[in-house]
Amino acid sequence: MATPHNEAEPGDYAETVLMPGDPLRAKYIAETFLDDARQVNGVRNCLGYTGTYKGVPVSTQASGMGIPSLSIYTHELASVYGVKNIIRVGSCGGVGKDVKLRDIILGEGSTTDSAVIENTFQPGIHYAPIADFELLDTAYHKAKELGISTKVGDVYAADRFYNDNVDMERLRDYGVLGIEMESAGLYLLGKQLGFRALSILTVSDMIFGEGSTTSEERERSFNDMITLALETAIA
Ligand code: ADE
Repeated sequence: MATPHNEAEPGDYAETVLMPGDPLRAKYIAETFLDDARQVNGVRNCLGYTGTYKGVPVSTQASGMGIPSLSIYTHELASVYGVKNIIRVGSCGGVGKDVKLRDIILGEGSTTDSAVIENTFQPGIHYAPIADFELLDTAYHKAKELGISTKVGDVYAADRFYNDNVDMERLRDYGVLGIEMESAGLYLLGKQLGFRALSILTVSDMIFGEGSTTSEERERSFNDMITLALETAIA
């Protein structure tokens, strides 16, 4: 086994990895979108696959939930398996004034209450994790080409899913579009380890309003997000 969390051999991952939180989403991406996909990781059922998209090698690897879990998989992909691009494909709660259910958000930056910032920098430094601009620019323009509407901005990576102590109105007023639990860690590690990072998120629930989606609607917006991520990966 190459790492404590990954049984893949060196060379098993492509240079670009699509990273959902949910292992079954990684399986779905591999089975639905990739050609000749084979499973490369099954440790702890945190599934990883490699195949091709339009002839280009692409992998998908689940991150699990939250920055600590995502950090393990991204760290090992970049430092052991030579991965160069990691595109998170996840869900988020809608926060921004104009954000609606099923919208696709490109995370330009990621505000966070996670301790990863303060345990990386000296006290007083409030580092701002940002996406790789080339990936962001490519995804934004590919979305336009494909007729997929996107919103670009800040996403709040929360350390706790259940937490009443966060002033979400204030975050909304300062431009935060969505709430999830991983992007700040992905962007921070991208800069630390030298891989390109981007989060593409679909809005699965609304923080201030009511609203629900049918499973068919959820599948359609998820599929749009995966198509956008794959087209960005091979651009
Ligand atoms: N991911 C999807 N919805 C979320 C929410 N409301 N809070 C945190 N992470 C999420």
